[in-house]
Amino acid sequence: MKQLQLAVIGFGMLGKACAAAIVEDDQLSLAGIVRRPESLAEKIPARFSHIPVVSHARELVRVDAALICVPTMEVLPTARDLLQHGTPIVECATLHDKLFREHRDEIDRIASLHKVRAIVGAGWNPGALSLFRALFSLLTPRGHTKTSWHTAPSLHHTNAARAVPGVRAALSTELRSADGKLQRYVYVEIEKGADLDRIETTIMSDPLFLDEETLVFPVEDIRVLEEEGYGVLLERRGSAADSDHQMLLLEGRYSEPALTTAVMTAAARAIPACRYGASTLFDLPLGSLWGNLKGKIEQEWL
Ligand SMILES: NC(=O)c1ccc[n+]([C@@H]2O[C@H](COP(=O)([O-])OP(=O)(O)OC[C@H]3O[C@@H](n4cnc5c(N)ncnc54)[C@H](OP(=O)(O)O)[C@@H]3O)[C@@H](O)[C@H]2O)c1
Repeated sequence: MKQLQLAVIGFGMLGKACAAAIVEDDQLSLAGIVRRPESLAEKIPARFSHIPVVSHARELVRVDAALICVPTMEVLPTARDLLQHGTPIVECATLHDKLFREHRDEIDRIASLHKVRAIVGAGWNPGALSLFRALFSLLTPRGHTKTSWHTAPSLHHTNAARAVPGVRAALSTELRSADGKLQRYVYVEIEKGADLDRIETTIMSDPLFLDEETLVFPVEDIRVLEEEGYGVLLERRGSAADSDHQMLLLEGRYSEPALTTAVMTAAARAIPACRYGASTLFDLPLGSLWGNLKGKIEQEWL
């Protein structure tokens, strides 16, 4: 199987996560990491030590597509430069409404001119969350959508969980489940070799945690969670056909860079199948996001 050779442009939070996801994906291969000249001397994680790190994608031998992971205001100039050099792109700049449409139209103009493929808005929001919203309104055409965000500040340190042997750090938060019940989420960073099952049982049987349903989640690095912990509650109420009182709910707690990474790499798998110019997730055949796993996914889910 021929793997798609991808370059990651910008090695910040999203760029690192994309690089890690690419090396784990059988259909993709990491051709190189493109960084600003001032960052080239910085050390990169050992797992990428064999990957070329350069200051421009044209220094790489073969690039089938570039994932743009630079700050939002730098995405358009970076995209323009890559497209002018004939490199297909995937990007996810955090732009909405009119700004998003202007950005997409400009990328479409440049990509069409140079006969290159581009996928825009391929993140979480804009991106997969936009698809969920659209699908909810398609299913319940007359109605109203409410989006509420949960953000990291609701997380707080918990000494009770931290005191459990084998736990290096712990954070806890309270969230409401879809049926309105309060649940406590305890995130733990555990020491090497510690027994997660025993830690989980100890925390869940602590009198301090008995008042509410408590769920324990192991995480690699609590600090990352503090920076990234997000959640959303998407509610659509309305009517469809003759039925009133339809209600659709999507509740998510997630790391936004992790979800965005999943969408960026999925979009990369879809690049060979898309037209010249800019496509959004709405324009792509859904199955193309799985690349050559489309048939298997169809069997599993349809
Ligand atoms: N759609 C979504 O849901 C979603 C979610 C998350 C992020 N995003 C988008 O993803 C992009 C990256 O986010 P991030 O959190 O990874 O940002 P970040 O951690 O700040 O990383 C951006 C990286 O870009 C490079 N960079 C910094 N300043 C630059 C400049 N002036 N010109 C060119 N490159 C520069 C740096 O890498 P080097 O040092 O290696 O050059 C930096 O580490 C943003 O555009 C953000 O809007 C979208």
